[in-house]
Amino acid sequence: MAETKRSVLVVDDDGDIRSLLKDLLVEEGYAVRLAPSGADAVEAITKNLPDLVMMDVKLPDQDGIALLKQLKREHDELEVIVMTAFGGSSTAIKAMEHGAYDYVTKPFEIDDLLATLKRVFEHADMSNEVSALRLELGKREAERERIVGSSKPMLEVFKLIGKVAPSDATVLITGESGTGKELIAEALHRASKRNPHPLVKVSCAALPESLLETELFGHEKGSFTGAMTMRKGRFESANKGTIFLDEIGEMTLGTQTKLLRILQEREFERIGSNTPIKIDIRVITATNRNLVDEVRKSKFREDLYYRLNVIHIHMPPLRERKDDIPLLVEHFLVKFRHTPGAIPTSISEDALQRLVDHDWPGNVRELENAIERAVVLSRGNPITADHLPFGDSQDRSRLAERRTKLDKDAETLQERRGRLDSDEADADAADADAELAEHANGDSSFKSRVATLERQLIKEALDRADGNRTKAADELGIYRRLLYAKIKEYGLEE
Ligand SMILES: Nc1ncnc2c1ncn2[C@@H]1O[C@H](COP(=O)(O)OP(=O)(O)OP(=O)(O)O)[C@@H](O)[C@H]1O
Ligand SMILES: [Mg+2]
Repeated sequence: MAETKRSVLVVDDDGDIRSLLKDLLVEEGYAVRLAPSGADAVEAITKNLPDLVMMDVKLPDQDGIALLKQLKREHDELEVIVMTAFGGSSTAIKAMEHGAYDYVTKPFEIDDLLATLKRVFEHADMSNEVSALRLELGKREAERERIVGSSKPMLEVFKLIGKVAPSDATVLITGESGTGKELIAEALHRASKRNPHPLVKVSCAALPESLLETELFGHEKGSFTGAMTMRKGRFESANKGTIFLDEIGEMTLGTQTKLLRILQEREFERIGSNTPIKIDIRVITATNRNLVDEVRKSKFREDLYYRLNVIHIHMPPLRERKDDIPLLVEHFLVKFRHTPGAIPTSISEDALQRLVDHDWPGNVRELENAIERAVVLSRGNPITADHLPFGDSQDRSRLAERRTKLDKDAETLQERRGRLDSDEADADAADADAELAEHANGDSSFKSRVATLERQLIKEALDRADGNRTKAADELGIYRRLLYAKIKEYGLEE
């Protein structure tokens, strides 16, 4: 039986980790060998090729990523799991790019780790051809720590970037405003072989339809009044590179049809021309809308949605990855230090705690702004809670917060209006309209009336859903989290 055992080589300079993993893996029926350094690992592997290597990225004699590269070069079929005590975007991305099977952070969740090991072997059984997970990527420019994050959801995002960046697959990035969607698009381009060529960004929300189309496709001289010269479009400028279509959810159906054709045929014509132009581009899109909903409402073409959503990267809101807040704060303190080279402003425990506790509806962008402002206000002294926007009630950011809430309320009303419209309850829709108009005027009694209405809507939805909150949130078209908060706010829990 002994020779059928799967063999694992554990490479770590920490004796405790080595013995912990050894006990665990032996108990699970693996044959285990140990190596305290890179050199020992190479020697052990030369003697006898294991089925799996689990290695720390920080080795006493060598950089773990360099060792990973060497191992994958010499033994393409060898599976490697990279372990680290510090989860940073660059190592996670690099590890996956250089063909690691997975990337795990210490301390381990034992069950997760064992499940990963199982998967490695199932995967190895399935095929020995080079899988998408083991990409030979060669000399890629290293992803520097530009995207900060070490939370679990962010590590998943980094791993996904490492896996998909090298391919030409179309990527759809979703997430609330300010979660870093544009940064992800940039990282994907940088980590791809298209990186010597341009990354062209176009916001589909910024321009009305006709201007957006000229912007994207270009036009011939004289194709419309005012077209004095030929102009290349952004697709042409992006040739061989990547085009990033931001806020794709705002694109009109007409333009969507044209985009679909480009994706299908990889060619298009300038406006006013019949000559097709071939292009070689990768398309990355982003939106903070729920495109599935837009498809359902016939505002977004379903066939286009499937074309764009080949790979989906979802950016979790900051409130769902609070572990990242201290790192982000540190990152922004460095970014906004007074003068280049100056020591970054420090921050009090209390202020940091407040930052961690805050809910960040504007996500990382809001945090970034808060830190920039605090750095200015504190004038080089340590930042305290007084320098934070949610410190005192006089503050402008308070107003901003209130505005976001009002916007959300308006959305609820819009939703309701949409439903009422479809129910042909015109009278009620007119009411909702009037309320929306009042909202726009900032009527002060507005808030309490919205609250009453909102409470009622939520209560009705909950009743219809027999108290099932997920169903109710779905029906209302709001996030479950928001519903929970509202239930609490209005004392609707029973
Ligand atoms: N993980 C991160 N690390 C460092 N900076 C970040 C991170 N995420 C976001 N930021 C910063 O926050 C700001 C907002 O990010 P970005 O513009 O990419 O968000 P977005 O999702 O595209 O937002 P929107 O939907 O509003 O366009 C930027 O200044 C960006 O540099
Ligand atoms: Mg953006």
